[in-house]
Amino acid sequence: MESSSSKYLLILLAIFYLINSSSASRNVPSKITASTEFIKTSCSSTTYPTLCYKSLARHASLIQTSPKLLAHASLNVTLAKAKSTSAVMLKMSKSPGMKPREADAMQDCLEELSDSVDELRKSIGEMGLIKASNFELTMNDIQTWVSAALTDDTTCSDGFEKNTVNGKVVRGQIVKIAHMTSNALALINSYASLHA
Ligand SMILES: *[C@@H]1O[C@H](CO)[C@@H](O)[C@H](O)[C@H]1NC(C)=O
Repeated sequence: MESSSSKYLLILLAIFYLINSSSASRNVPSKITASTEFIKTSCSSTTYPTLCYKSLARHASLIQTSPKLLAHASLNVTLAKAKSTSAVMLKMSKSPGMKPREADAMQDCLEELSDSVDELRKSIGEMGLIKASNFELTMNDIQTWVSAALTDDTTCSDGFEKNTVNGKVVRGQIVKIAHMTSNALALINSYASLHA
């Protein structure tokens, strides 16, 4: 009696084990798991870790566990966000309900944002050209450009009045770009420090 119930228990455990292990390997390939863990750990040393992880986790299969690809991907997602925000702002600045002062602020901000987009583009271009022989010089350029992009984002968002609806909406988006840029800079700096 006792031995047959313990046999049942063993069979049940074996079945549980098989179901769990097969569903785990089906849903989450271990390479992706390693990558998302790597992204989470790397993001934890940035100023905005949650935003960092949220914006990068879906690129885990591309990033794998490479600090260089992580820095590259963080520039990519920041550029994409800056470009899409610019497009929306351009539309907003042309809408008939826009007050002249708001339209001016929007115009100034768009110029800053366009500088920021150029700096991110240049950085992404250089990221693809890094070699052992030019590492320090290239990283220096990238760090300079991404810092400049961060300054441009901040100047842009500071131009908006907080007490208007459009001002609040646009500021929120620009602040998000600034935070993503700050995170990209942190990931670039930690990649650079690996070679120091
Ligand atoms: C960055 O974007 C470029 C161009 O869209 C793409 O080819 C590259 O794979 C991306 N790299 C990463 C690491 O996300």
